[in-house]
Amino acid sequence: MVKMATPFDAEATTERLTGARLRGPVIYLDSTGSTNDDLRQLALEGAAEGTVVMAGVQTAGRGRRGREWHGEAGRTLMFSVLLRPGMPAERWPALGPLTGAAVAVACAELSGADVGTKWPNDVVYAGCKLAGLLLEAQAPHFAVIGVGINVQGDEESLPAELRGWATTLELVCGKRIAPQELLVAVLNALDERYGLLLEEQSAGLLAEQRRLESTLGKQVVASVGRSVVEGVAHDVTGRGELIVLTAGGEVVVSSGEVQSVRDRNGDLPA
Ligand code: BTN
Repeated sequence: MVKMATPFDAEATTERLTGARLRGPVIYLDSTGSTNDDLRQLALEGAAEGTVVMAGVQTAGRGRRGREWHGEAGRTLMFSVLLRPGMPAERWPALGPLTGAAVAVACAELSGADVGTKWPNDVVYAGCKLAGLLLEAQAPHFAVIGVGINVQGDEESLPAELRGWATTLELVCGKRIAPQELLVAVLNALDERYGLLLEEQSAGLLAEQRRLESTLGKQVVASVGRSVVEGVAHDVTGRGELIVLTAGGEVVVSSGEVQSVRDRNGDLPA
């Protein structure tokens, strides 16, 4: 990892973290392989909960399911945050939907747009992906949550293969939001929800996750390992599962990906 002087003021950003638990420090790297890898290394060396690594450029960014993940220098907010949840490992799967909700709420607040989540770990606007999360846990020690958000850029700035599937906050609301503003908003929103989870006050969190989840009530095709579950997305659970009503009954999907979402009359969501 290379640490250089940059216009991004990591110290000033750290000072704006007002939560009870996630207060930085924010470490900014002009260029690195993957912020998740950097933060994992810092965690192994004893870094405190709330430590954040943010990068201008990632040369080996990783997505879910072993995919490569590319962000745009100066346009994509790329960071990872360290949690050390003092709770039994079986409750850790709640961290994914909780972070998705924090990212969606922060994006909605700053853009004024109706931003939601898409199971399991995407943040979307009108069916197009705005952000993705990569949660890597080493229970009972720590969890590294990596977040990539498409902040700035017009349609042309999106790779051709992603047009129609991905979007940016700028496209969504017509405003250029500064990445550090969004970083502060996401971390403060995450802090609030993480506190509720640790204090076992999860009812409000689940209600929020249900409100934000864009697949509910829609016809979905979810890939689960090598098999496929097809039906109507019915509910989400506090453990990060998606409940799908299939022709054969209710199926609780705990990992996988929603490949296709349609309104129940067969139309693609607007
Ligand atoms: C996905 O949509 O598949 C997840 C994308 C996660 C990307 C972020 S960018 C910051 C952090 N570092 C990585 O290498 N990945 C995550």
